[in-house]
Amino acid sequence: LTARVNKNDNLEIGGCDVITLVKQFGSPLYILDEESLRTACRQYRDSFKQYYKGESQVLYASKAWNCLAVCAIVAGEGLGIDVASGGELFTALESGADADKIYLHSNNKSRDELIFAVESGCTIVVDNWYELNTLVELAQSGYSQHAPYRIMLRLTPGIDCHTHDYIRTGQLDSKFGFDPNALDDVFEKVSQQSSLNCVGVHAHIGSQIFERQPHQDLAALMVEWLKKAAKYGIQITELNVGGGLGIRYIESDDPPTIEEWVKPICEVVEKACKSENLPLPKLLCEPGRSLIGTTCVTAYNIGASKEIPGIRKYIAVDGGMSDNPRPITYQSIYRAVVANKMSVPSTETVTIAGKHCESGDILINDAQLPPTESGDILVVMGTGAYNYSMSSNYNRLPKPAAVLVGNGEASLILQRESYQDLIRQDCLPERLKKS
Ligand code: LLP
Repeated sequence: LTARVNKNDNLEIGGCDVITLVKQFGSPLYILDEESLRTACRQYRDSFKQYYKGESQVLYASKAWNCLAVCAIVAGEGLGIDVASGGELFTALESGADADKIYLHSNNKSRDELIFAVESGCTIVVDNWYELNTLVELAQSGYSQHAPYRIMLRLTPGIDCHTHDYIRTGQLDSKFGFDPNALDDVFEKVSQQSSLNCVGVHAHIGSQIFERQPHQDLAALMVEWLKKAAKYGIQITELNVGGGLGIRYIESDDPPTIEEWVKPICEVVEKACKSENLPLPKLLCEPGRSLIGTTCVTAYNIGASKEIPGIRKYIAVDGGMSDNPRPITYQSIYRAVVANKMSVPSTETVTIAGKHCESGDILINDAQLPPTESGDILVVMGTGAYNYSMSSNYNRLPKPAAVLVGNGEASLILQRESYQDLIRQDCLPERLKKS
């Protein structure tokens, strides 16, 4: 994050005073630092260039934060985009991203989503027999002009890693991907379809991972898959190891750097291909969190507070689980600062509560902060990934605005929702209308 404390003792991000931003754009406010997002994109890109002899392509897993501006920035840095639904695909295309570098995921793509995908020309990461059969059927029934469809196969690697249960995906008991025991059947079926151009294999083992070994094991296993595909005459040219590199949310988190994560994966693939006498595939990965997670903060206004003597002090902010559902969903831990009191020592231990009608709507337990009062601006760090993208309108809170900051300038990238926006899709049947 390009952050510093300015002469007013306020937090500044991308050269913009956070207090001024909140005055101008309101709160809660997502503040996205353009420079640090671009830097992370380049670190991924350059690490592959440096450590891999073959071709490579980094994709941004846009589920972390899918909106027009973010897609445009990452595409502008030469990254492709991983989309996980028709809606994400639509947004990526509207942002101007090139369909050649868009990959569609999901474990249950609808027929309509598959039609949208083949018409757009993106690559489809086929997850299961249902999708495979639907694609074959589409090619026989009016969508043949787009065939052969460019596909990859997602396989369950059976590789476990240490992270939250909800975000582990590599173990055999997972809803994602073909069962690796059915690999022969899958390759055989695919090899018989002239309407399918199978260019690659894909796997993703989970998210917020700090270990490096699982991805190295995965890379080695995937080269085995390439070898097997060749036996069926399928020329696999792309190998996608997914995403998953963790980030630092709190001081004690110690994830590998992007370079440290990329390097051994490249080495394993090169070594395995060499010993199997296989040509080097194009190597892909699709990070989300580690590209965007630390590049954004959320600013809130502090309002009410409640001290229960001897037990706890709560301070409440004007957002909560609707703009950041991660603490209540995964017990995620965040760090916060008071943007207008940056040099005031942190002498208080407080629990930061949201404003939703749920006791569990707590953003941070036992945060160390300077003494606060209503009107102070609390900033939660590291909210770039899976915050806006998982936000809701619970309690009919309008979704916050987001601004992109850089070189002292701020541009709106998501408008704050209004009350009118909240009822835009509501329908009041005639007979319920008050006459
Ligand atoms: N590729 C696939 C197929 C994925 O399913 C995911 C994440 C990624 C790439 C990107 O993973 P990353 O680099 O961001 O770890 N909502 C959860 C995270 C869910 C991740 C889902 N898949 C959270 O807030 O922690």
